[in-house]
Amino acid sequence: MRVQVAIVGAGPAGLLLGQLLARAGIETVILEQRSPEYVLSRIRAGLLEQGTVDTLEEAGVAQRLHKEGLVHHGVELCFAGERHRIDYQGLVGKSVTIYGQTEVTHDLMDARKAIGAPSVYEAESVSVHDFDGNSPRVRYRTDGGAHEVTCDFIAGCDGFHGVTRQSVPAGALKTYERVYPFGWLGVLSDTPPVSEELIYTNHERGFALCTMRSMTRSRYYVQCPLTEKVEDWPDERFWDELRSRLDAKASAELISGPSIEKSIAPLRSFVAEPLRFGHLFLAGDAAHIVPPTGAKGLNLAVSDVRYLAHGLIAYYRSGDSSRLDRYSERCLRRIWLAERFSWWMTSLMHRFPDTDAFGRRMQAAELTYLFRSPTAQKSLAENYVGLPLED
Ligand code: APR
Ligand code: PHB
Repeated sequence: MRVQVAIVGAGPAGLLLGQLLARAGIETVILEQRSPEYVLSRIRAGLLEQGTVDTLEEAGVAQRLHKEGLVHHGVELCFAGERHRIDYQGLVGKSVTIYGQTEVTHDLMDARKAIGAPSVYEAESVSVHDFDGNSPRVRYRTDGGAHEVTCDFIAGCDGFHGVTRQSVPAGALKTYERVYPFGWLGVLSDTPPVSEELIYTNHERGFALCTMRSMTRSRYYVQCPLTEKVEDWPDERFWDELRSRLDAKASAELISGPSIEKSIAPLRSFVAEPLRFGHLFLAGDAAHIVPPTGAKGLNLAVSDVRYLAHGLIAYYRSGDSSRLDRYSERCLRRIWLAERFSWWMTSLMHRFPDTDAFGRRMQAAELTYLFRSPTAQKSLAENYVGLPLED
């Protein structure tokens, strides 16, 4: 097979890139190691910045998002039993949309099927070759045997554990990492959300987050030690623990029910530099991971893909490779700002096992300052809703 761009990975990054390029008449193939059902079964976050909504509109996949998504104008932070609202619409004139990443992935898969663009699911042993030479190729196996795709460019959208970043010679890549000493235990339940807006809680027993997928499906998270197992957390223990961390009003109003999904996710900050190696471009989780506290994971993947798609379209339309040449530096500017904000929100709202009494007072003072200072709230708001995209 020969295509212009071979995309490894059918997560939101790979599927969105495929959609933006297809709309510009650029031929792609997506190679995904898992089945479509498995890809759709992964429960991930669901908070979309305005820039992400704009990019999904540009890709022609925003109809259901606009119909079913919840537009939020503010968020609440709770500390010492008191909730404080950050009115980001009022502070920076922008809002966010609550719409599950699974739904975004679903819409993108449907769109790709509708245009009949090629995707190979359950592609085994995917490997990338000669991306720093002149004839980039991707090889993979299916039941039918070995296959090879020749292409002009390879897009590595295969996530943190993918093959593309691992195929880059060690000397050519620099990585930065911070692993946090706790995880998030998340539960999805078909119960009405405890509050119309998200509540981030810093409690002496640990962090908690109340969020939702719709007005009938809720998502809750509690900070837990990394040693914990899902089996240690029957539903009842989860609801009791969550209730114990919420303010009195939320605790009284919380409606519990059977969990329909329950999982523990580690928290990590990770960045790989650069994002380009000849004809290979990394995008999304293949290049960076943020802790979920800032809700930046999906939004960063979308902004990478937006920059890459615009670069490839300019290249194929006018031979201008300047955007592709600036791809890595542009993405990294945005990535490090999102890493900072996600690290800061994580440091502000979680209880770190090794923090001493002075450290706890510093955290409390940081929160007190935030709740008193419109300037500090404005800074949080502009980062939370998403910094402007460079275009
Ligand atoms: N060959 C083919 N496909 C692969 C390989 C491989 N060797 N390794 C991984 N993949 C596939 C995975 O199965 C997955 O479907 O690549 C896809 C990567 O998708 P994601 O992990 O969702 O990454 P990305 O598309 O960058 O989306 C980032 O996902 O984890 C969240 O918070 C993150 O919201 C962010 C979003
Ligand atoms: C979610 O809805 O799952 C969610 C929202 C905001 C976050 C993290 C997760 O910061």
